[in-house]
Amino acid sequence: MKPNIKNIAVLTSGGDAPGMNACIRAVVRTGIYNGINMFGVLQGYQGLINNNIIPMNARSVSNIIHLGGTILKTARCLEFKTDEGMDLAYENLKAHDIDALVVIGGDGTFTGARRFAERHGVKVIGIPGTIDNDLYGSDFTLGYDTAINTVIAAVDKIRDTADAHDRLFFIEVMGRDSGCIALRASIATGSEAVLLPEQPTSIEDLIKQLETGAATKKSSSIVIVSEGHKQGGAYDIAKLVKEKFNHYDTKVTILGHLQRGGSPSSFDRILASRLGFAAVNELLKGSTKQMVGLRGNEIALTSLDEALAAHNFKLESDLLEMTKVLSI
Ligand code: F6P
Repeated sequence: MKPNIKNIAVLTSGGDAPGMNACIRAVVRTGIYNGINMFGVLQGYQGLINNNIIPMNARSVSNIIHLGGTILKTARCLEFKTDEGMDLAYENLKAHDIDALVVIGGDGTFTGARRFAERHGVKVIGIPGTIDNDLYGSDFTLGYDTAINTVIAAVDKIRDTADAHDRLFFIEVMGRDSGCIALRASIATGSEAVLLPEQPTSIEDLIKQLETGAATKKSSSIVIVSEGHKQGGAYDIAKLVKEKFNHYDTKVTILGHLQRGGSPSSFDRILASRLGFAAVNELLKGSTKQMVGLRGNEIALTSLDEALAAHNFKLESDLLEMTKVLSI
């Protein structure tokens, strides 16, 4: 049976990601096209608690498809993790007669959404929006493609100077618990090695890889270090290598938050539009506690429980193998 949905709100939460604006646009316009009253919640779950909820129309989302960041703002909200915070958020939703929520964000956002749905029966659909690409059930999350392109552009420039000076660079990329950005950026930039949170690499193995390259006359070397790597970040690894192999002229670059900004790539704009469109249509069909994602170029639903189960998530094994083979 189709639910009687009249009012839908959308919010962005957690770390921002390029493509969030394109997604907000798609959610708002799909809702309006279907005769729904649309609302935006400012600053994620914090805005729900603070009653920062605004009506949105088709023009509220004009000329934002190309913008990074999020016009709705975002936040990491600790208060929403408490029963009191969540109850307050629910009261505010009810005061606006909002029947359903679209949340755009990563694992923290989905964890909050799942609890909200369980505690108050709120109908909710999640859209994976994080540069980390660490949610099970979608081959790609919003912002991931753009972030990789940003990393590639930076690493290519570093390669120029590394090569000119015969230097060894350690470049740290984002991914608190996930090596997705590091892995793909490593392949796309032809880096000599990559250090990932998902697999331990001993310093001895790393040095062996670097020495093999040096012996076959590689002039520069680049090691991509994921920020979540268990033995430490780029500075720690550079220090360990330098202690054992002083002859390397080493440098470190932390790419940091520049990876989160910028205009979304064509891929992210289209993904954002598809997922936003699908999220509203799913709510209108009666789906709830689901994530809309992309699997094999098809829109696919995954329960929030499954999407959040960390053991479901795996890096592609062929990519992992390629990092060793193609960097000789
Ligand atoms: O958005 C995900 C992420 O970029 C992680 O890779 C990173 O560890 C984290 O956010 C940093 O977030 P913030 O800048 O909000 O502390």
